[in-house]
Amino acid sequence: MTAAAEPTSPHVMNTYGRVPIALSHGQGVRVWDTNGKQYLDALGGIAVNTLGHNHPKLVPALQDQITKIIHSSNYYHVPGQEKLAAKLTELAGMTNAFFCCTGLEANEAAIKLARKFGHDKGIDKPEIVVYEKAFHGRSIATLSATGNTKVQQGFGPLVEGFIRVPLNDIAALKAKTEGNPNVVAVFFETIQGEGGVNPMRAEYLQQVRKLCDERDWLLMIDEVQCGMGRTGKWFAHQWAGIVPDVMPLAKGLGSGVPIGAVVAGPKAAHIFGPGNHGTTFGGNPLAMRAGIETIRIMEEEGLLENAAKVGAHLKQSLLNAFEGLEGFKEIRGQGLMLGVELTRPCGVLTARAAERGLLLSVTADSVIRMVPSLILSQAEADEIVAILVPLVKEFLAEPVAAP
Ligand SMILES: Cc1ncc(COP(=O)(O)O)c(C=O)c1O
Repeated sequence: MTAAAEPTSPHVMNTYGRVPIALSHGQGVRVWDTNGKQYLDALGGIAVNTLGHNHPKLVPALQDQITKIIHSSNYYHVPGQEKLAAKLTELAGMTNAFFCCTGLEANEAAIKLARKFGHDKGIDKPEIVVYEKAFHGRSIATLSATGNTKVQQGFGPLVEGFIRVPLNDIAALKAKTEGNPNVVAVFFETIQGEGGVNPMRAEYLQQVRKLCDERDWLLMIDEVQCGMGRTGKWFAHQWAGIVPDVMPLAKGLGSGVPIGAVVAGPKAAHIFGPGNHGTTFGGNPLAMRAGIETIRIMEEEGLLENAAKVGAHLKQSLLNAFEGLEGFKEIRGQGLMLGVELTRPCGVLTARAAERGLLLSVTADSVIRMVPSLILSQAEADEIVAILVPLVKEFLAEPVAAP
């Protein structure tokens, strides 16, 4: 173990359960640690490194931007914001965007939009429908919207104004909101990421869209993890043919440069006015360039098609290998957002996979999650399978540890 990879540090706050390696550099979907060991990266910085590492078109564009201007201020117009907002709204079929730096910030903006939407209609205590197992971030408002008590523990009192419902159950949504005049929005991830790669069904998405229209609620879809081409469409909800009113984005949008955005349709685009919302770093020229170039390169290289094709191949290969295996439950997800659920907690597999040269994560205790770069080739997907399948089989053959 190198000095850079000590499990705890005297100076960095101990907030992460880290695998004891430190990465020094990468190329494509491969990374190397500070000891020179090579890994196949099926985690992609948790759905962030859209174009992989050291992309030959992204890197010179960012270098060019750095020599011009990294940061100005939102006191001034930022031409990159105009350009990226125009592109994102075109891809989403929406109209306006606000830029920030992270997923939780994008979600905070969405929550503020929903509340102000309510206040503008005379609702003093607006309420937002959120979901079991959801993950929206770790600020006080977004952890309150999150459906995981572990994330909330120790940080009460939580923010009020959230109504929680189960996934994919339109009757439950109707029952929980029945006769409540304070509801202003429904807020969910199309495919829950941290919650265990749990997709919303297309039919359910259409039903919720319809309900939001009937009741004059905002439909707010958190595409922070499942968006930006990962499932084979720009945004995962597009598989259901719907358009939300509010869509937070982050992660893959800048291919590694911190960036977040909340995209809005006509119903939400003009809720904020000057002074209602802002952030120092949001929409700075470097982040905007990263977003613009990421999308341009994705289009040039057909990465949506690649994500759909390679993702389907990876899913099928894993299914072929695991089907019928005792301890294997199911594979969920779409494109290059896949979760393999086992019937027992398997957190140890994150470190064990790293030992064998594969980076992935385990979420919701028993779901092995893969969210690699969208440049992953079929041959590289086969390499993932070649490492992961024996690892899981060996793990499942072990006696179950006593609770
Ligand atoms: C769906 C979703 N929303 C929001 C967030 C929070 O994003 P960030 O960590 O950039 O604040 C995450 C992070 O995992 C996420 O998966």
